[in-house]
Amino acid sequence: MKINKNFLDLEESYLFSTVNKKTREFAASHPDADIIKLSIGDVTRPLCPAVIDAMHKAVDEMADEKTFRGYPPEQGYDFILEKILEHDYIKRGINLTKDEIFLSDGAKSDCGNIGDIFATDNTVAICDPVYPVYIDTNIMNGRKDKIIILPCSAETEFLPAIPGENDKVPDIIYLCFPNNPTGTVASKAYLKKWVDYANKHHSVILYDSAYEAFITDPEIPKSIYEIEGAESCAIELRSFSKTAGFTGLRCGYTVVPHKLVFDNVELNSLWRRRQSTKFNGVSYITQRAAEAVYSSEGQKQIQENLSFYRENAELIFKGVTEAGFKAFGGKYSPYVWLKIPEGFTSWSFFDELLVKCNVVGTPGSGFGKMGEGYLRLTGFGSRERTIEAIERIKKIFAK
Ligand code: MLT
Repeated sequence: MKINKNFLDLEESYLFSTVNKKTREFAASHPDADIIKLSIGDVTRPLCPAVIDAMHKAVDEMADEKTFRGYPPEQGYDFILEKILEHDYIKRGINLTKDEIFLSDGAKSDCGNIGDIFATDNTVAICDPVYPVYIDTNIMNGRKDKIIILPCSAETEFLPAIPGENDKVPDIIYLCFPNNPTGTVASKAYLKKWVDYANKHHSVILYDSAYEAFITDPEIPKSIYEIEGAESCAIELRSFSKTAGFTGLRCGYTVVPHKLVFDNVELNSLWRRRQSTKFNGVSYITQRAAEAVYSSEGQKQIQENLSFYRENAELIFKGVTEAGFKAFGGKYSPYVWLKIPEGFTSWSFFDELLVKCNVVGTPGSGFGKMGEGYLRLTGFGSRERTIEAIERIKKIFAK
């Protein structure tokens, strides 16, 4: 038996596991430290009442022989697919059909699994800094040497440049807006350039819009399908995690339009085949929970939570700016991307913040080489702890 040697090309551990390990070690050696975690983007507010009510009801249905449900349809029950279709797309003028939406246990899994339907010799364009799942899963699939890095820096507002005429053409292009980790958002005009590029070169865009719910400006697109031509070149990945606090419940969805045809094959049929073989669907209780997100009470309640996290991010942005840091993001995103002081690396500044303030961030270099010199803080904490963290940072770093 031989192992999949591609795994040996990965960093020893996943970024957030390393951050957690270092935090645990620090806590063990400093038992009195009152540590505030603003590292992984995990929500802290409980699920909203509309979602909880729907789940209680679904649990009761599962307890009764007459309403009990076994395996769910792999793609999702109609009741949830119809809500997603209507609310997230049709209402916004995007014409998709129910069978183009695939419910799943979250965008992270879909981001990784979608690679199954593409040949291993495809070239893949990935931004730097980036959500590490895109890089790691392509390495696992044997595409290490096929990765084309799209560097993103403050000079270009962390937007990757569209490849030029003489540049290598990527077959697969990962884009994420609002961006994790930098918090950057993309305009329609900018995304149109990518869509035109992908259609011209017959590339596929994997558009991660897990943070779309943080966008409040109607001019900023929430979906890639708001861009004309995207349905023939883009797959969209979405999540209930950040939108409705489902990080512990697990639900997301991926849109694969029928117009995506490569090698004379619809990607929709390949993804359906992949999912029906390797995935057994989202639990009935979770699907009812997701459905409740679209009720009028659900919408009102999740918006309250989203505003709360947005305000946290704004407070962090303001606080670190007052402490003398240059910061990015924090507006239509839960993440604040902080330029760290001269003389530190991302990891040495992570240590400095942990030791001096007992605050945990995520080192920018964990998101790629271009992230060196930065640190990410999240707005998903409680208000009290977020304010406390800002006060500590100001006390230590403000001149
Ligand atoms: C993050 O902190 O970047 C995210 O929470 C990770 C994720 O969504 O998997």
